Amino acid sequence: MLSSEEIKKRAGANAADFVKQGATIGLGTGSTVYWLIQELGERTKQGLNITVVPTSAQSAQLAKEAGITVSDLDKVDQLSLTIDGADEIDPKGQLIKGGGGALLQEKIVASASKELIIIADYTKLVKQLGKFPLPVEVISFGYKQVWKKILQSGVCKEIKLREKEGKIFITDHQHYILDCYCEKIEDAFLLNENLHLIPGVVETGLFINMTTKAIIAYGDGRVEEIKFK
Ligand code: A5P
Repeated sequence: MLSSEEIKKRAGANAADFVKQGATIGLGTGSTVYWLIQELGERTKQGLNITVVPTSAQSAQLAKEAGITVSDLDKVDQLSLTIDGADEIDPKGQLIKGGGGALLQEKIVASASKELIIIADYTKLVKQLGKFPLPVEVISFGYKQVWKKILQSGVCKEIKLREKEGKIFITDHQHYILDCYCEKIEDAFLLNENLHLIPGVVETGLFINMTTKAIIAYGDGRVEEIKFK
């Protein structure tokens, strides 16, 4: 049985094969994407010439350190491909993302991409979304009102304002994150739509009908490719 880090490494490194010479790709965020960046960095040293549009300050930093050219979404028309991690993946490829707090930029970059490849270890595959608390990014002003409205809607039993090291977690865009404990999300599409109707909600961690492929790594060393579109 491989260690959880080794499993993530396999998922990340395998996905590098989808990145072609000269490509400009969307670059996700998280501990699995870390390994993708390391692999792309190695390939860059060996002559791969690519540009990445990062989904977070953290990934931008890692890409620069790995010697990869970093660009901005406003400098490209459309991305052929984005590679990112996920917190939960259901059998239709619907996702919960945002465990790392980068969901807003991740969703903007993914929606500017023709293809979204998700890299993950097997523990992220679920029958139904919801066990992982759903991150909802909100404007800090009046966030308690948003909190109240989500609770009143009955979609979740508990909401926690995300904190890091004892302080409120602030996103790259100066927002807060409400982690919503839903347990089971019956209709992810509807929930995403309804959350967007609440004033103050900036984005949700539900990625609906965006995933084209998932690269899933297992403890026995196997790496599986699942196609969704
Ligand atoms: C970042 O905001 C998230 O959406 C990540 O992509 C997600 O949490 C997966 O991260 P790991 O690869 O670290 O599990």
